Amino acid sequence: MSSESPKTFTIKNYGCQMNVYDGDRMAELLSAQGMSAAADKANADLVVLNTCHIREKAAEKVYSEIGRLRRRDGSSPMIAVAGCVAQAEGSEISRRAREVDIVVGPQAYHKLPEMVASVARGENVVDLDLPGLDKFDVLPKRRKTGAATFLTVQEGCDKFCTYCVVPYTRGAEISRGFAELIDEAKALVDEGAKEITLLGQNVNAWRDGEQDLGTLIRALDQIDGLARIRYMTSHPNDMTDGLIAAHAEVEKLMPYLHLPVQAGNDRILKAMNRSHSRDSYLRILDKVRAVRPDIALSGDFIVGFPGETDAEFEDTLSIVREARYAHAFSFKYSPRPGTPAATMDEQVAPEVADERLQRLQALINEQQTAFNRDTVGKRTSVLLEKPGKLDGQLIGRSPWLQSVHILAQGLSIGDIVEVDIVDAGPLSLKGEITMRAAA
Ligand code: SAH
Ligand code: SF4
Ligand code: F3S
Repeated sequence: MSSESPKTFTIKNYGCQMNVYDGDRMAELLSAQGMSAAADKANADLVVLNTCHIREKAAEKVYSEIGRLRRRDGSSPMIAVAGCVAQAEGSEISRRAREVDIVVGPQAYHKLPEMVASVARGENVVDLDLPGLDKFDVLPKRRKTGAATFLTVQEGCDKFCTYCVVPYTRGAEISRGFAELIDEAKALVDEGAKEITLLGQNVNAWRDGEQDLGTLIRALDQIDGLARIRYMTSHPNDMTDGLIAAHAEVEKLMPYLHLPVQAGNDRILKAMNRSHSRDSYLRILDKVRAVRPDIALSGDFIVGFPGETDAEFEDTLSIVREARYAHAFSFKYSPRPGTPAATMDEQVAPEVADERLQRLQALINEQQTAFNRDTVGKRTSVLLEKPGKLDGQLIGRSPWLQSVHILAQGLSIGDIVEVDIVDAGPLSLKGEITMRAAA
């Protein structure tokens, strides 16, 4: 245990983009307290592990990371475990890993400075309060942003899919207010953001009175200097007509939709408590593609859900063929303590799930490569986000969220350039500059 006031910090994020957003906010908060980001992460006085609980390996990674934080002289930095493992495991973490000083849930991290002060006085602190949106009233003004940045608009989940921990680790569905979000978006643009991705565990469930996510996107569209808007992750049941129409009407809204279906068989979808069917999902895609034929569709899949038969798994392959994905994540079902599916009969043997995952991923890779190849020969805009490995190379994103590698002198991160796509692989595209587009 550490007993001095830390001067430097480092934050390590695991899991979803919402943790990336929370990590940025914690960095802003600690900086506002006079601490600075450690230049040498290995020697930071305070290490925040911002954890994810979604699958088993994610939690195990945290414990091995804690072990690795011990320094050669036997001492440890001050260690805070934040995020969803913190929320789910609570004080069990400091029992299992005694070097942990702070355990703080995803809705209590605005209290980090007080907690750090308590640890410096020799105490251990656990705060797993789920007070909803309190943290947003306390956090300092936005400072930390890249050219492409995140903005959490909605937190939590009321859907209770039978395999998932999120409703327990993030609490009930709750939306931040319209005016507050517009202010935060403007602050991000003032700090240099060109693209904002609106985030939520169910981002399209965002509401403020009569206003839905489509309304919020139309309002963000009016912010000068903001060039691109995205949102993720969406639930099929919250895909309103207003949001779909925004894809036709709002030019800044990028043609990308992350809409997980999880499985292609109705009996499995029911057992998962997904509350949509195979057919209702495909009908939503028809509506979206009617207004935005070039949409890049992305999804999440779980294979080996308890009781899934070979024939039911074939339905997942067939929905992938029908839906046509530009990109997708796929996972082997992982039983999570406290969720209904963990105690269901007929857990699928790991080798069966492995084989299904391989077949699914092969199909998804095929579709992803085909989608990327289809962009060769197109002229499109790219927002430059980071340096590449080669001299003079920059990496950016196309409107369809593909990575585009560009070799060009005189360009900077944050520039939006027009490029010709000249080559495509499974994971990235190669672009050549045609001209600098108006940002
Ligand atoms: N709210 C989003 C996704 C949240 S979690 C949605 O409903 O679509 C991200 C993804 O992790 C899920 O879409 C699901 O595919 C996967 N996932 C969640 N729990 C899991 C579990 N127990 N085992 C395997 N994958 C899981
Ligand atoms: Fe988890 Fe389902 Fe909620 Fe998504 S909708 S966060 S998968 S419970
Ligand atoms: Fe993981 Fe929590 Fe996100 S469990 S996926 S960090 S909401």
